[in-house]
This record gives sequence, C-alpha cells and structure tokens, in this order.
Amino acid sequence: MSTTQLFKNPRAAHGFQGRTCSIAAVGSYVPERILTNAELEKMVDTTDEWITTRTGIRERRIAAEGEFTSDMAAKAARRAMDKAGITPDQIDLIIVATITPDMLFPATACLVQHKLGASRAAAFDIEAACSGFIYALEIGQQFIMSRAYNTVLVIGAERLSSIVNWKDRNTCVLFGDGAGAAILQHRPDAHGLLTACMGADGEKAMLLCMPGGGSRIPASTDSVEAGLHHLQMDGKETFKNAVTAMLTAAQEALRRCEIDISRIKLMIPHQANRRIIDAVGDRLGVKPEQVFVNVDKYGNTSAASVAIALDEAVTQGRLQRGDLALLVVFGAGLTWAAAVIEW
Ligand code: ACO
Repeated sequence: MSTTQLFKNPRAAHGFQGRTCSIAAVGSYVPERILTNAELEKMVDTTDEWITTRTGIRERRIAAEGEFTSDMAAKAARRAMDKAGITPDQIDLIIVATITPDMLFPATACLVQHKLGASRAAAFDIEAACSGFIYALEIGQQFIMSRAYNTVLVIGAERLSSIVNWKDRNTCVLFGDGAGAAILQHRPDAHGLLTACMGADGEKAMLLCMPGGGSRIPASTDSVEAGLHHLQMDGKETFKNAVTAMLTAAQEALRRCEIDISRIKLMIPHQANRRIIDAVGDRLGVKPEQVFVNVDKYGNTSAASVAIALDEAVTQGRLQRGDLALLVVFGAGLTWAAAVIEW
C-alpha cells in the first residue's frame, strides 16, 4: 500500500499549493563529560535513588569550559550536513532554537553561520524553551513550502549547565547540555512534516523562568546575589501542565492526519522526566516499543531534546524512511507542540 493511503496530509486538505517539506537528515552532538547521579550526591542533598525513581535520569552531559552553545550547534549541524550530503554554501537559512544563547545578542544562529562558513544563509534564533525544536521545524517548513528557500538548517542547542543553580537540588539534577540539527528540504518522494500543532499559555510564564538578565531585571550585583540568573521552576505545577498539554497536542496532531496512534512507528517525546513520558504514553495508548526514551543518558536538554532523540532513533534503526513518527514537546512559556512526520 502506498503511504499516501495511510494518512491524510492536512496541508493538502487546506488547499495546500506549495511543496512538501522533509527532513533530509539529522545529526546530534553531546559533550564528552558525563555527570552522574553519584557525583550529584556529593554536590547537593540528593540520592541516586531519588533522581532515578522521580525522573528516570541517571546521567547528563556537561559542556567543557570554553565549549558554548554555538560550538555544540555547529558540531550537530556538520553531522546532519554530512549525512544529507550538502555543503555550507547550499544552506539558505539557519534557525537556532535555544534558551541559552552564547550571548543575548547577536543571535547564536549568526555565530553558527560563521562557524559553518554558510555565508549565503540568513540566520536567526527562536526562543520557545523545550518546545523550540518543533517550533523551529514548523517555521523552517514554511520557507520550503513557499519555495522561498530550498535548504533550511534547524538546530536545537543548549548549554543549560550555565544557567542551572548547582546548589538547588530541585533543579540541578534535571538538566544537561547538547545539540541536535535537521536539514529541511523538499523531497519529491515524501510528505515529510505532515502537521505541527503549537500552543502557548503566557499566563503561566513564571512557573518556569530565569528572571534576571533581561530588560526587566538587568544584571546587577543585587540581581546576581539574589540568584536571579538561574533557572527557576515550580516542578509540580510544570509536571501537571506538561502531561495535559503534550497529550492534547499529540491527539490534535493525530486527528488532523486522521491516523490512529497504532499507525505511529515511534513517539519521540521531550525528554524531561520519565514519569511525564509514561503518563502521556499511557493516556495515548502507545505500546512501550513505540516510545523513544533517552532521558536516562542526557536529562532535559530543552530545545535540543527531541532533536537528539530523533537522531538517535534514526541511527539505531528504530525509524526507517516511510515510517510515521509523532514528536511531542513541552516547555517554559508555557509552550507546547506536537508534529507528525513521515520520516
Ligand atoms: N533529591 C532529593 N529530594 C528532592 C530533590 C532531589 N534532587 N528535589 C526535590 N526533592 C524533594 C523536595 O524538596 C520535596 O521534599 P518535601 O516533600 O520535603 O518538600 C520532595 O522531594 C518532593 O518534591 P516534588 O516537587 O513533589 O517532587 P516531584 O515528584 O514533583 O518531582 C520534579 C519533582 C522531578 C522536578 C518534577 O516535578 C518534574 O519533572 N517537573 C516537570 C519538569 C518539566 O517538565 N520540565 C519541562 C520543561 S523544562 C524547560 O522548558 C527548560
């Protein structure tokens, strides 16, 4: 049976006149340094048992001194470019999703553009926290569909270790560093990104934020002493909102494509907490073998999370060309998104 008979392409249903957009290749990079739960036991009042049972995280990666978000982003991008067989001069646009840019400005995407030598490319950052990679995929897709560009490089990259408060056991055990990248192009033989459902709830913005360093509380001795340049989170409320939003977005994405969850080869959820992944998976009715999990190895890498997971899923052969995947994310903002892709 041809894949076109398996699902509805919602873009086509809405009078879609443009080109389809596919992920030509993905790549990822994580720093060498592994920080284990045993090491965290020596840094804050925690235990490996607590972290493992409450989050599923066993270890995370920490960027080296002098290794910044743009470095990790460029490394992930080169790996994706090698797999897609494209050269830097072919890239029309670079979008970097991150909450840990090298600097507030210029955009990390511009630094990546320089590192790659992609001198033809336009470049900008987007900020949708852990939802950033799917938000960026959807933005990149619009440029391909409209024929404005032929090749878009989308990257999720984070150096969360630089904003985590290493004395706060509530948050420091959860996060890690890394980057994932995707090359978007039109492939005549594939539907690619079938749909992306995105949402936000700014009323709950303060559940998860870094209050200092912006125009509201510029950096000062007082702001630094008050710890306002660290990530802060109401974990319990964030958890509840994450489950509801991820579930709703995933159901909407499946509904738009008129497919049942059983048709999905692999669900690739944001890797924040194993219990969130299980709660969403249970409610959607996925089988364990349909869910990709690597939160145990990397913790929460925010915008890089699903990008790294997608690359690992492809590398491990858990996703083959033609398979359908459901990506679903949730993060600060609050923001959330779900996408169905024909890999
Ligand atoms: N070690 C030991 N005890 C701890 C630790 C720790 N590392 N952290 C918290 N505790 C304690 C708390 O102090 C609390 O103690 P108390 O009962 O004496 O007050 C107890 O454990 C239970 O704390 P809870 O907050 O109820 O723990 P919970 O089961 O909710 O798990 C967690 C906390 C892991 C943070 C969870 O709420 C969570 O994962 N939240 C969602 C995170 C998320 O989804 N983030 C996504 C977006 S991230 C982004 O956008 C950047």
